Amino acid sequence: MSVLITNIGELVTNQPEVEAADAGRLGGPGAAGVGREGVGGFAALADAALVIDEGRVAWTGPASRAPAADQVIDAGGRAVLPGFVDSHAHLVFAGERGAEFAARMAGQPYRAGGIRSTVAATRNADDGLLRANLRRLAAEMRIQGTTTFECKSGYGLTVRDEERSVALAAEVTPEVTYLGAHVVPPEFEPDPGGYLDLVCGAMLEACAPHAKWVDVFCERGAFGRDEAQMVLVAGLAAGLDARVHANQLGPGPGVQLAVQIGAASADHCTYLDGADVDALVGSGTVATLLPGVEFSTRHPYPDARRLVDAGATVALATDCNPGSCFTSSMPFCIALAVREMHLTTQEAVWAATAGGARALRRADVGHLGAGARADLIMLDAPSHAYLAYRPGVPLVAAVWQGGEPVSGSPV
Ligand code: NIG
Ligand code: FE
Repeated sequence: MSVLITNIGELVTNQPEVEAADAGRLGGPGAAGVGREGVGGFAALADAALVIDEGRVAWTGPASRAPAADQVIDAGGRAVLPGFVDSHAHLVFAGERGAEFAARMAGQPYRAGGIRSTVAATRNADDGLLRANLRRLAAEMRIQGTTTFECKSGYGLTVRDEERSVALAAEVTPEVTYLGAHVVPPEFEPDPGGYLDLVCGAMLEACAPHAKWVDVFCERGAFGRDEAQMVLVAGLAAGLDARVHANQLGPGPGVQLAVQIGAASADHCTYLDGADVDALVGSGTVATLLPGVEFSTRHPYPDARRLVDAGATVALATDCNPGSCFTSSMPFCIALAVREMHLTTQEAVWAATAGGARALRRADVGHLGAGARADLIMLDAPSHAYLAYRPGVPLVAAVWQGGEPVSGSPV
């Protein structure tokens, strides 16, 4: 059954090459698109329509030229966007760290070691509890407009607990990441080399069948450059693709390693020098910025403008996790990116949709060109800018995944 959504005030397509002519003629925001590689092809049509057929976008264009369809939905002038692509999240865990957050707000610094308290709670939890927690967070993401998300292991850190973490994650998303190299667990403190062998050996073997990605926390207090490289090389040899937690808490080798190894994404990028920025520009590695972390740890925000102006490809994601940032809200991250990191509203929305898709090496999501998966959201607002203009307001009125309505209501 085909569905026509018409009377769309602003249709964000992220497809300027297809629609630049129409956007110009209609005077839509796409005519003045940001047009720079790296925040890329934000483009939008005014007074537009979109047809969904067989779970895909079949047509987009001016409402006045819309074809007939089996069902018609009147958007009433509201905005329609690609669903958000949250390319970085840690959703398989038990316990919570609200007191740690409160202590931080009272002046304590964020420490990577906090991960271990979540590891203890996760190991003690049964599968039912982990699954319930995971599904609750996935549902929370969906009602806020996230239609694709990545999910990491990394709070189990035994072969059994990492394997069940990736298996549980695979129940809710195809974008599963093996993060056995999150921190060295306490029982391996006297023998970090032994833990590295496990991560690159039996643990990887158990987890690889459930995962698509391998990740490592390359940071002082977690894994150094050579150790991180070992983990990534082993993951690549097991058929996984790489992504890296890089330069989060201080300067370091993570970004350069990510680029050298051909990782899809270097995530955090909070402390970069000129060589790091140069390495990212023109590489196949996306700089994924996670401003909810800086909000929740009082670290300085990454220099997003420098990255974008240099031509790096930038994505925005939540990093939803119980320690450094416990938001599941892409709209909140967009608002932070605009207000605190000086991205334009178009750049931030592109980074949260098409940028996330690039960080996951997905061509079928993050845009609404013909043939894309029909993952889209309708806002209770006339334009994408309201996501930053009205921060904290639940503006996502309806969500479609693969052409099916999965949350809210378009009427
Ligand atoms: O992305 N940096 C490493 N991992 C998470 C934090 C995990 C935690 O504190 O529990 C992050 O910020
Ligand atoms: Fe993370």
